[in-house]
Amino acid sequence: MSQFKFIGKTSVRDNIRLSENPKYPVFKELYVKQKKAVWFPEELNIQQDILDYKSLTPTERELFESAVGYFASSELLVQNVLGNGFFPVLTDPYAKMSFSTQMFMENIHSDFFEIVLNSFEMDRKRVYNITLEDKLLKEKQEIIIRAVDRITYGKADPDTPEGKKQILTAILLNNIIQEGMFFYSAFAHFFAMKDTGKMKNVVSGVELVLIDESLHLQNGIEAIITIAEENPEIVDDDKFIDNIAETIIDAVELELNYLKSKFGGTTIFGVSYKELELYMKYIADRRLEELGLEPQFNIPENPLKFLQKEDVKKLTNFFEVSSTEYTNF
Ligand SMILES: [Fe+2]
Ligand SMILES: [Fe+2]
Repeated sequence: MSQFKFIGKTSVRDNIRLSENPKYPVFKELYVKQKKAVWFPEELNIQQDILDYKSLTPTERELFESAVGYFASSELLVQNVLGNGFFPVLTDPYAKMSFSTQMFMENIHSDFFEIVLNSFEMDRKRVYNITLEDKLLKEKQEIIIRAVDRITYGKADPDTPEGKKQILTAILLNNIIQEGMFFYSAFAHFFAMKDTGKMKNVVSGVELVLIDESLHLQNGIEAIITIAEENPEIVDDDKFIDNIAETIIDAVELELNYLKSKFGGTTIFGVSYKELELYMKYIADRRLEELGLEPQFNIPENPLKFLQKEDVKKLTNFFEVSSTEYTNF
């Protein structure tokens, strides 16, 4: 068994043998789950949605294109975060297999949104630029970028409490806030489309993306809990723990501002801002609980009825990360 902690400084010669008894069995499980979830976007018939796409109202089309633009660039942002920020300090071989499978899945997602762009002859430059031109969408990416830029190129020392906190925060922002909250907010827009009978084939691809993202969320939660358990000195820092909850609450605020800019005063695909606000708060509470923190908003149930349907629930752990047991900080 390796003497290394989950994050640290290793040589390329270290950890190149798999053990029958992995030090972190959950990452072997998550590797296997992700491997089984792999799919290929060419198997979908997105082109069949062309008439739906052409029939979208200007507001609906704007929302669709914003969601596609946001995902198209965020998939590769996740890739960069893991490759440039996390991999250099990750020591465990099964954790590397799990996170590199996540990276492979981000390729599939980029590829999928590329096919969406091409199928409807969308204006690539304009769609990609949405995340730069929409100040709120840009900020959603910037909070991830700022945290990860703080740890790349050896700037965070995984052997110091400060470095560990910075690495944990980067994973929190990438895997929990970006993939487990911002992406989940955008998933609701696609499911609302499907509920009105539009873009069914595109949404069937998004359903597969959702399954993958629920596993990436689990990767992140397990990584954070592992780092916390191995380093009690960072968990004993009450200010740091408060900061984790505050970062999640700030992210809710940011997402709500974005949703207000789109849905304020109107319904799109039958959904109102109020419903999305409650949904976002409901999701945030789930994430807080999964990290062993107190829920903040106490929304009794998911307000979006179309996400309560059995076919959506079946899509795997949509709201709960339930396959493993979590310990409190
Ligand atoms: Fe993805
Ligand atoms: Fe992901």
